[in-house]
Amino acid sequence: MTQDATQKAAKKLFIKTYGCQMNVYDSQRMAEAMGAEGYVLTEDQSDADMVLLNTCHIREKAAEKLYSDLGRLKPLKAEKPDLKIGVAGCVAQAEGEEIVRRMPLVDLVVGPQTYHRLPQMLRGEAPKILTEFPEEDKFDHLPERKVTRRAPAAFLTVQEGCDKFCAFCVVPYTRGAEVSRPVERILREARDLVARGVREITLLGQNVNGWHGLGEDGREWGFGRLIRAIAEIDGLDRIRYTTSHPNDMADDLIAAHRDIPALMPYLHLPVQSGSDRILKAMNRKHTADQYLRLIDRIKDARPDILLTSDFIVGFPGETDQDHADTLRLIEQVGFGTAFSFKYSPRPGTPAYDRPEVDSAVADARLQELQALLSRQQKAAQEGMVGRSLGVLFEKQGRLPGQMVGKSDYLHSVFVEAPDAQIGDLVQVRIVESAANSLRGELI
Ligand code: SAH
Ligand code: SF4
Ligand code: F3S
Repeated sequence: MTQDATQKAAKKLFIKTYGCQMNVYDSQRMAEAMGAEGYVLTEDQSDADMVLLNTCHIREKAAEKLYSDLGRLKPLKAEKPDLKIGVAGCVAQAEGEEIVRRMPLVDLVVGPQTYHRLPQMLRGEAPKILTEFPEEDKFDHLPERKVTRRAPAAFLTVQEGCDKFCAFCVVPYTRGAEVSRPVERILREARDLVARGVREITLLGQNVNGWHGLGEDGREWGFGRLIRAIAEIDGLDRIRYTTSHPNDMADDLIAAHRDIPALMPYLHLPVQSGSDRILKAMNRKHTADQYLRLIDRIKDARPDILLTSDFIVGFPGETDQDHADTLRLIEQVGFGTAFSFKYSPRPGTPAYDRPEVDSAVADARLQELQALLSRQQKAAQEGMVGRSLGVLFEKQGRLPGQMVGKSDYLHSVFVEAPDAQIGDLVQVRIVESAANSLRGELI
């Protein structure tokens, strides 16, 4: 068979990814596992032999999205009875067979820790609903990452799961207990990515800075030490990581921000609230003041660091005073940007049954908080104007000759650079700040 004929014979897989970067990474790994079975990715759902929805359970709206998307798949399934529909990710883990009961068109349901068995499931050699937390490590059973041409920036999961049990959060239940991947696996995957053209790696984990493991020197390594080892890989220019918990910002990690030029001056450090009462009710296990002092230490190590965060408004019991405390914390820190959410009660979490804040009150607080955060975002972006920054080009822009990339501080930067290639890391002078991006000129 010619290569063309093989490609025509290949089955097509459409994947839709919801939720966080861990899901983006998992979708890539699932595509690779299915690739070994002869599936190629398609962007066109109606052309697919299999549709895989990689879901998120973090808020009610995110979870309900699955069911509306499944509803929309009904006509396609009616037209193509052989179409396989799979549900993966955190809703799969949380709801399991309930999904098939509500939506019988679903052929298989696979949780985040079992997706290495997808090929077996498709062949009928494994149950069609798999949501246990197996003893085995899925990464040992997945095909080696063989993607030939890589985008210049890649994700690498180093840690999964969470033992923190914040009162609002489903992650400890959907992703299971904290597990750190072994050092040699991480280094091998990182080297392999760099050998394939990757220049920037974002290390991922639900509690990425809680990562720990046995180092190559026989000692117990923390996350800062892991970053030092990764930074030694030749050809790797940039390292980032997400998401971190304040209580796991160890001294060694803070020092890495001072010592390692490849570690980008950007840190996403969710705080959720600025009120000690609410932080306690959320089971975050630190106070607002401890967070502020931590930020001071991080800024001592890396004065130009851009900080971002997550906030939940309207958590059960939140008063006007608690909300004011959160606004004050935001004023004190000055964030580059932040995600903010209205509290969504999640079944099975400790806060689920607590009396809710009036919905209109929560909406108003969210608006006020977002207005403050967008003023800070604007100020942070405007502060970049006139500065010379590194930009890693990731794709072509819409205008001819235009490239788009990320600055050291993770802002999207548009640059006129007709001779540049994707994957070039260039120095750019920022000349303008727009709504959600910057414009720069080559130096
Ligand atoms: N591990 C990360 C957060 C992962 S979830 C951390 O510890 O910060 C991403 C964000 O979703 C959280 O930071 C929180 O702000 C938000 N979130 C989680 N559960 C939520 C809920 N029930 N309602 C509203 N927002 C929620
Ligand atoms: Fe959820 Fe808290 Fe764990 Fe973050 S630290 S994943 S918010 S339980
Ligand atoms: Fe969502 Fe699961 Fe990530 S609940 S945020 S996809 S860990």
